[in-house]
Amino acid sequence: MARRRMIYEGKAKILYEGPEPGTIVQYFKDDATAFNAEKKDVIEGKGVLNNRLSEHFMTGLNSVGVPTHFIKRLNMREQLVKACEIIPLEVVVRNIAAGSMSKRLGIAEGTPLPRPIVEFYYKDDSLGDPLVSEDQIVAFQWANPQDLDEMVTMALRVNDFMSGLMFGVGIKLVDFKIEIGRLFEGDFQRLVLADEISPDSCRLWDMETGQKLDKDIFRHDLGNLADAYTEVATRLGVMPKKSSGTTGPTLVK
Ligand code: TMP
Repeated sequence: MARRRMIYEGKAKILYEGPEPGTIVQYFKDDATAFNAEKKDVIEGKGVLNNRLSEHFMTGLNSVGVPTHFIKRLNMREQLVKACEIIPLEVVVRNIAAGSMSKRLGIAEGTPLPRPIVEFYYKDDSLGDPLVSEDQIVAFQWANPQDLDEMVTMALRVNDFMSGLMFGVGIKLVDFKIEIGRLFEGDFQRLVLADEISPDSCRLWDMETGQKLDKDIFRHDLGNLADAYTEVATRLGVMPKKSSGTTGPTLVK
């Protein structure tokens, strides 16, 4: 990796300077962390799966008119993206109560919400990414009211698209987190979906069995994370179907 300059190393990805100005290479690591990196492990193959899955989601979103930073996948672990300035907010959309919302408000996990709920968290690991209000966001100038309107609209469009895609393969999209960036083009700037969308940043439950197919498996030691991500990728047609157990040719009578 000495061939290019590293720009930033996060918990699950590394960003390198891209081949042309205004581009960045996103490298997906196998590292998994939870609870603000209190829990850490390396899950072999996770980076490859998330690279493919994020490509699939971002390409689909682009095709329905949601602007994203995604340009193209380069190889098993890397994708080329447009350089943008990440707004320091994690935008969470929830369809079903789970995780921190269940804990904070005492709503049983699995309770359907009356409508999708959008929340903002301030991206600051030293503070543990606290929940913030729109008023705080505007007052502290992390985003202006027009940005906020656009962010909510974008988050809900991502929710519609992702919910439909998952529903089609028997998976409930419980909630997810996205990050949004400012893309500067001459004198103009526009907001684009950035970072990644993968089972690291979503809650995905099998519609029939309720089985978790996302990073909660790692957070709460519920089984094999790579197998679950492979299951999601296989159902979406992103990875080839697993063989049914027979290896050799079948005998034709
Ligand atoms: P939460 O219920 O823990 O607030 O998480 C809501 C959604 O956001 C869930 O799909 C997992 C995702 N998420 C991240 O992608 N990164 C994070 O750091 C956290 C806390 C949650």
